[in-house]
Amino acid sequence: MCGIYGFIGDGTVEDLVNGLKKLEYRGYDSAGIAFAKNGSLIIEKHTGKVDQLREFLSSNLEKRIHAGIAHTRWATHGVPNDLNAHPQSDCTHKIAVVHNGIIENFSTLRSQLQAEGHKFVSQTDTEVVAHLVEKYFNGDLLEAVRRAVEDLNGTYAIGVLHSDVKNEIIFARRKSPLVVASDGKRSFCASDVTPLISSVRDVMFLEDGQLARLTAGDFEIFESTSKNVDKKFHHIDWNEKDAEKGGFKHFMLKEIYEEPRVISDALTGRTYGGRIAFDELSEWKDYLKNLNKLNVVACGTSYHAGLIFKYFFENLRPFNIEVEVSSEYRYRNVFVDDKTLTIAISQSGETADTLESIRLVKSLGGKVLAISNVVGSTLTREADKTLYINAGPEISVASTKAYIGQMMVLYLLALHIDSIMDGKHPEIVKSLNKLPEIMDNFITSSNSKIKKVANKYVGYANFMYVGRGINFPSALEGALKLKEISYTNAVGYQAGELKHGPIALLDEKFPVMAVAVSDELKEKMISNILETKARNAHVVAILTEGDSDVSSVVNDSIHLPKLPHYLYPFLVGSAFQLFAYHVADGRNLSIDMPRNLAKSVTVE
Ligand code: M6R
Repeated sequence: MCGIYGFIGDGTVEDLVNGLKKLEYRGYDSAGIAFAKNGSLIIEKHTGKVDQLREFLSSNLEKRIHAGIAHTRWATHGVPNDLNAHPQSDCTHKIAVVHNGIIENFSTLRSQLQAEGHKFVSQTDTEVVAHLVEKYFNGDLLEAVRRAVEDLNGTYAIGVLHSDVKNEIIFARRKSPLVVASDGKRSFCASDVTPLISSVRDVMFLEDGQLARLTAGDFEIFESTSKNVDKKFHHIDWNEKDAEKGGFKHFMLKEIYEEPRVISDALTGRTYGGRIAFDELSEWKDYLKNLNKLNVVACGTSYHAGLIFKYFFENLRPFNIEVEVSSEYRYRNVFVDDKTLTIAISQSGETADTLESIRLVKSLGGKVLAISNVVGSTLTREADKTLYINAGPEISVASTKAYIGQMMVLYLLALHIDSIMDGKHPEIVKSLNKLPEIMDNFITSSNSKIKKVANKYVGYANFMYVGRGINFPSALEGALKLKEISYTNAVGYQAGELKHGPIALLDEKFPVMAVAVSDELKEKMISNILETKARNAHVVAILTEGDSDVSSVVNDSIHLPKLPHYLYPFLVGSAFQLFAYHVADGRNLSIDMPRNLAKSVTVE
């Protein structure tokens, strides 16, 4: 939540805005920048998105600057308005601060600072940081920031610029991500790597408690004790083009079209004949063989991928698998022993509740395996081992290709653990390898058909998504996708649960999205569909092509090719994503940046 970007070295105001634009998916309530010109601090900040800021700055975009910091906000303290936008400043108007996170003791600090004579102008928690730096500054900006952050409770990634300190900018981190890099002429810091990859590929992720001093040609990292820290670089091989729309109307649609490639990349180097090989897990052979429990923790879409993993694994062998939303798991009195493996799934690798869950597991002596998309993210650094999904940057707030990639890596993981425990399923491995082509054909041939169906339902205010077995989590995920980008009430249920309450909602204005593919639960699904039809609900079914048992009883159909049952969640996932996309597009909504949301949820 919130994007921070800054650089020092020769550049322009537009460079600052362009860097910020790439972080906009992290929050878009307001945007602002700060830089120094002729010894004065210039701050420009406005409610709204980065493009609005760009418009305000249009006559100044080419202005040359030596250093600047920028921020795109997801509001926590104070409504989104110009005053609460970052950067925040101090009484002397020489210090600019951008911040991501929550300062939990801001109210106490604010009262203390007010008593000392500091004047506050915003409702933000961030403004206390600017005044604290002012209080401690005596010519050494690093030292002032170090002392300021000592006073803070809570979480932060902050960037600080002082108009009297020309040759450095300072950043500090506790629990909110920051990455630093330098190309030898300019040094950069950002909330994630997306604004950096056009200039540099080797980056360093700050650890909790560290501070970074950036100068034009280099950067230094310090512990909170001021001790200098050795640099540890991660190489990022994301393609810069992946972070551009490439002719698509929205990132979301582009990212759905990338799903076949994502599946294929997730498979690359991990299957040999009918076997799975994860080099990353080679040291864990004995540990995996003796496991007797799997815990899965995740949030949102990643949680749904975790649920599908449970169904898939249980199909291979009966096993004790618990899948829990991280924001609940972390507060439970959980059981973990040396035969338990905790799998933490997070696209961003920065989701606060998932990080706290794994910290809990580790404090109990348990092992953690991360499934993530972001190289070097906090999750991957704190977990014992990581399997990357290699989906490339996912820009749209709605997770699409990462979900499909997570599922594939989780399927491979299930097969890997099962094979270590003596299972053999070469036919499944073979069919997974065929999936990229199947997905490609499906997405390209079905997009316009799904759009036609979606157009019929653009005006409805409520939707019920239902499925059974491995397609029940698909119903949850379909409903989540629709609500987050189209602001439509959509609920996901196990189809068998309808009659225990939710069916009371249904009438001709409350359509049902039913996953009724040709698998062993199809007949049961048909019964549930008929029950909803008897309440006058319109039913859109996702079914297997040629299946007239289902198509004859529903109003609209989305057809999938005939597949082994365990492959359906991939195609159902894409079908529901496309349906949600076209409903939201039919309403002309801000699909890639839906209201109230942010891509990376770094607050608890
Ligand atoms: O980065 P993570 O996978 O940990 O994010 C978890 C959720 O915040 C995320 O999946 C969210 O639900 C998406 N916006 C759904 O599209």
